[in-house]
Amino acid sequence: MSLQQGNPSAPGNNDRFSSAGFILAAIGSSVGLGNMWKFPYITGEHGGAAFFLLFIICLIIIGLPVLLAELAIGRAGRGSAATAYVKAGGPKAFAPFGLLQVIAPFIILSFYVIIAGWTLHYAVLSFSGKLFSDSNFSAQFSAFTGGYMPLIWQLIALALTGFVVARGISGGIEKFNKIIIPGLIVLLIVLMIRAVTLPGAEAGISFFLNPDFSKLSAEAALVALGHAFFSLSLGMGILLTYGAYVDKRQSLGSATLAIGAGDLIYAFIAGLIIFPTTASFGIAPDTGPSLVFIALPAAFSAMPLGAFFGGLFFVLLAFAALTSTVSLLEVPVSYVMERFGWGRTKSVVVVTISLLLVGLPSILSFGMVPWLDNIAGKSFFDWLDFITSNILLPIGGLVTTIFAGYYWKGAAEAAGLKSGWFKVWIFTMRYIAPVLMLLVLLHTSGIIKFE
Ligand code: PHE
Repeated sequence: MSLQQGNPSAPGNNDRFSSAGFILAAIGSSVGLGNMWKFPYITGEHGGAAFFLLFIICLIIIGLPVLLAELAIGRAGRGSAATAYVKAGGPKAFAPFGLLQVIAPFIILSFYVIIAGWTLHYAVLSFSGKLFSDSNFSAQFSAFTGGYMPLIWQLIALALTGFVVARGISGGIEKFNKIIIPGLIVLLIVLMIRAVTLPGAEAGISFFLNPDFSKLSAEAALVALGHAFFSLSLGMGILLTYGAYVDKRQSLGSATLAIGAGDLIYAFIAGLIIFPTTASFGIAPDTGPSLVFIALPAAFSAMPLGAFFGGLFFVLLAFAALTSTVSLLEVPVSYVMERFGWGRTKSVVVVTISLLLVGLPSILSFGMVPWLDNIAGKSFFDWLDFITSNILLPIGGLVTTIFAGYYWKGAAEAAGLKSGWFKVWIFTMRYIAPVLMLLVLLHTSGIIKFE
């Protein structure tokens, strides 16, 4: 094995992304279930296009600067997310916050991969036509999620993810994204054309694209910012980890813009699929699993060639989910390789088995074990989602901004920005992003409320 910096761990060896492969992999991580089932709903709730504008603003002025910071820190540290801040030259006090950004994606993956499994199951169910043999989609969904089948599909999704990650960065993660992302783009375009040409689609399009500025509020702004973070996969150690595999000649500024554009375009097209489809069939654009697994199947069942388009839709979701699970798995795997000096395959096997165990209560919280369904008002699954997305993610973002803004002497060189842009970036890191991240944290954790 060729070594760098005398560190036998993989993040330090020479398995690197190519420039295009890195951008695709980062887009793959950002493009996921979040933009499909959360974005349309929160957009609808907060004024359609007005909220979309807000989301774009948050993405550009806070999301992209933090994304750049994570990549730059990751590349400067060339370690796992746990050691990135310290290896990049930061004080030891940052070490526990690095570790937190290994634990967070591990927890997210434990439940995210369950849903990835559901999408695979629904793709098969839809193509085979079985999904449409019973029009009570809600009952079908509960029967499925409350049974043992999700375990099998979760195993398949996890095995696929593990297989890709075990093959390494250029031969695994990069290659996988290079195959999947073009497929994802084709599916997005086909489904968008299908959706916007449905009878009555205009109502959905105008709902999505006609701004209602009266619905904008401080609350909407924080929701938009929180979502910009989730959708770019920030605060979760992912870009710290991916950054370690990026070549030093790669311009991080242009990569950041490309990743932001990819995420934005995906969110936009997701809106152009969901809103026209739900409007055309008079279905509420609900949130979460009930949108994609209950409301949309009802729409597909009523459209010509619905089994085919429904199948394509679930394959699209599966692709989007799997490019995210791969990025999530790489974070703990790179940590375990660095910490214990294990090889990649062994690390993947150990982390994957641990994930199965940690994910078990989540999978059982859909009816198999009734008390897991309601622990102080939320299911086990929802608690994990709440803690990671609403608490750990803003903490991760906050730590990165404070580190880059105040504690990082090498920031200028590592970010590689022209001096004017560097000033804008560092100003954002010091004075704007930390304040807003703190507000997001106080809001999502329920400490401050509006109205
Ligand atoms: N960005 C992904 C989505 O939109 C989810 C994700 C969040 C993936 C955090 C990795 C880390 O679904």
